[in-house]
Amino acid sequence: YLAKKTGYDGVEIMGSEGYLINQFTAPRTNKRKDKYGGNAENRRRFPVEIVRETRKRCGDDFIIMFRMSVIDLVPEGSTREEVLDLARELEAAGASLLNSGIGWHEARVPTIVTSVPRAAFVEATRQVKDVVSIPVVASNRINDPDVAEEILKSGQADAVSMARQLLADPEFVK
Ligand SMILES: Cc1cc2nc3c(=O)[nH]c(=O)nc-3n(C[C@H](O)[C@H](O)[C@H](O)COP(=O)(O)O)c2cc1C
Repeated sequence: YLAKKTGYDGVEIMGSEGYLINQFTAPRTNKRKDKYGGNAENRRRFPVEIVRETRKRCGDDFIIMFRMSVIDLVPEGSTREEVLDLARELEAAGASLLNSGIGWHEARVPTIVTSVPRAAFVEATRQVKDVVSIPVVASNRINDPDVAEEILKSGQADAVSMARQLLADPEFVK
């Protein structure tokens, strides 16, 4: 709401990489006994309430991107079905689009280093795209125009996000 009042077009809610919101969704870290813990529906209550309340307070003319963990890559992370259910509920709660977070910081599976093949995790994003109608964004190791274009052309994602590539080469988009 403060971002909207300040004149921003939207926000990204950080729900991945093993940060607080992600710690609610995974049984690995969520040991709560109240309505925010236990079964999968309770574990996703926190992110869903955040999106619903943000939409309520900011109105329709505001972009709410939610960066969800499309694959946790840690023991006792969310199951595939739980990830897809979360995506459905975030859409219903008013998210404008979903971005992909890949792996918790403590994951033992490499997610960003050079040895990770380009766009290696795009399949996890595609599965989310299959169950929602809002745009879904792919992430991680997308740093080549042909790879980016292929993801869009083949319909695996609606957009791609790049982090380090845009730092390394600000002319990339041209
Ligand atoms: C040094 C560093 C810091 C990062 N910090 C964040 C962060 O605060 N929030 C976030 O969502 N992602 C963060 N990321 C992840 C990036 O958003 C991105 O997902 C990751 O670098 C993979 O995409 P890339 O291959 O295009 O760089 C960080 C990545 C790096 C390398």
